Amino acid sequence: MAESMKGLKRTHRCTEVNGSNAGETVTVMGWVQKQRNKGGIIFVDLRDRSGLLQVIFEEEECGAENFAKAEKVRSEFVIAVVGTVTKRAGEANANLATGDIEIRAKEIRILSEAQTPPFPIEEDSKTKEELRLKYRYLDLRRPDLQKNIMLRSKIATSIRAFLAEEGFIEIETPMLCKSTPEGARDYLVPSRVHPGNFYALPQSPQLFKQLLMCSGYDRYFQIAKCFRDEDLRADRQPEFTQVDMELSFVDEEDVMEVNERLLKKVCKDAIGLDISLPLPRMTWQEAMDRFGSDKPDTRFGMELVDVSKVVEGCGFGVFTSALENGGSVRGINAKGQAEMPRKKIDALVDFAKGYGAKGLAYLSVQQDGTYKSSFAKFMTEEELKALVEAMGGEKGDLLLFAADKNNIVWSVLGALRLEVGKQMGIIDEDKFNFLWVTDFPLLEYSEEENRYVAMHHPFTMPKEEDLPLLDTDPGAVRAKAYDIVLNGVELGGGSVRIFQSDVQEKMFEVLGFTKEDAYDRFGFLLNAFKYGVPPHAGLAYGLDRLVMLLVKAESIREVIAFPKVKDASCLMTDAPNVVDDKQLEELQIAINLAETKEVEE
Ligand code: AMO
Ligand code: AMP
Repeated sequence: MAESMKGLKRTHRCTEVNGSNAGETVTVMGWVQKQRNKGGIIFVDLRDRSGLLQVIFEEEECGAENFAKAEKVRSEFVIAVVGTVTKRAGEANANLATGDIEIRAKEIRILSEAQTPPFPIEEDSKTKEELRLKYRYLDLRRPDLQKNIMLRSKIATSIRAFLAEEGFIEIETPMLCKSTPEGARDYLVPSRVHPGNFYALPQSPQLFKQLLMCSGYDRYFQIAKCFRDEDLRADRQPEFTQVDMELSFVDEEDVMEVNERLLKKVCKDAIGLDISLPLPRMTWQEAMDRFGSDKPDTRFGMELVDVSKVVEGCGFGVFTSALENGGSVRGINAKGQAEMPRKKIDALVDFAKGYGAKGLAYLSVQQDGTYKSSFAKFMTEEELKALVEAMGGEKGDLLLFAADKNNIVWSVLGALRLEVGKQMGIIDEDKFNFLWVTDFPLLEYSEEENRYVAMHHPFTMPKEEDLPLLDTDPGAVRAKAYDIVLNGVELGGGSVRIFQSDVQEKMFEVLGFTKEDAYDRFGFLLNAFKYGVPPHAGLAYGLDRLVMLLVKAESIREVIAFPKVKDASCLMTDAPNVVDDKQLEELQIAINLAETKEVEE
């Protein structure tokens, strides 16, 4: 039976009590981590979000009635204890923040009894994630999750404080928006008042923040919920949080400068990490050439080497035909991995195929200087030697090569480099390597849609010197776009925006939109620009990713209070779910499940 806390007021959180309180009477409240009954004496570890505190019950101190209650107490009961702070008689418990003291109880109240939880509430729980997510409210009691969630709040506070100090204004933008598909799939919300019409939940506040620049707010920010119906991964959720900002009368450099200082402050405030500024930068081209990725993990080497020139005209058809088709041959050198068993190499070949490779050619330099290779028989001794030399191959090294179109070679070797680096254990987990990636291509050719699509979004400004290429070679136009990368994860991205109507029209033309299309979708923005628009630029971080990296979590699910699983459902609430017929009727929506539901991998 639950008792009332009437007449009691909590004086301290568990770990706020310390040696300096010795002799004082305190009132603490929380959950029972563990109760041990040693006959005449009962030990209770009391837990709240601050940590653990040991409480001791002895009958002569607390009286028979309280002692009997303490005997009944089980794990996860919620109790209130009034007691005296004393220095521990025995040895201090170094594992507890409050390890040198204990509370000698005078009174206990059982505020709430608890069933046995489906899994233990403890750090580093081995409990399956599905079970944890079903009982997320219990999972959230675990110290590691509490640490993440509290750090997330601290990070948000630090960001707000910095941006306010820098003159940014926090403005909320709508959640019920017009669907302007370009990028990920929208989440749609049916309108009751306008049957057959739908709102879209925002993929980002992009258009609104540009409008706010037109309205003169000159420095805006928002910690905004965003929604994208895309395939989920460890660093992707259908709803996630952006730290979104936009600035007027600025160029790339200004945005990067203020954000570097923001990151420096946040790292210091959150985890006491000192990062030195300016942060390193790399163009997109360099990132692809050296790391096969637009978000390179620079914590280790094993960089890609372009050996196209070296293998030109060699006897290995796989290499030469890739070159003839306008592709390239590149490799990575897995130092000291020459002894990798065949089975593991085969697994790497399969891994590469998962990224679109047709195969993966390999060569290992044996201790006696001979080569073991999947393609040696096609090449002369000199050709092989030149290739090994170009790769910096030494005795004991394993060289892995991909030959194909550049895009495929990059994505295969970029992924392989990370995989092999992980397997070799050469990634220094203590490093926090920030990196700006700049000069992204403006456009990307979509084979699927048979047209150019914007790599970032259609409002991104091309580099002025590349403007003429929009007519002649759109694929080669570079954008005034930048991403901020941390340890191989895209933390944020942004760009300078187009504010000149002629450039914007040209951009829409290249993207294959008619003027009507463009006005139909983005008319409100294009019209706004007719009434005086300042040059502007901005950036948005994924807050979930930032927190994930700073707490070194494996997934953003570990830093989101109530995340969704891979199929975008919530295991705790069972969302999404069917709705009442009445609700559908009001919306004039008929469900048609006749067509088989497409389940995406
Ligand atoms: P972008 O689409 O690059 O840019 O998004 C910015 C950042 O948001 C995070 N992010 C995600 N995090 C978790 N789950 C997702 N599904 C997800 N999608 C994106 C990433 C990403 O870097 N409006 C522009 C920004 C701008 O130009 O100012 C935008 O949304 O960390
Ligand atoms: P094959 O002659 O097809 O057996 O290929 C010989 C070797 O080249 C094998 O190790 C294949 O995995 C590898 N290979 C095939 N296609 C490619 C490619 N596009 N890039 C790199 N290696 C390849």
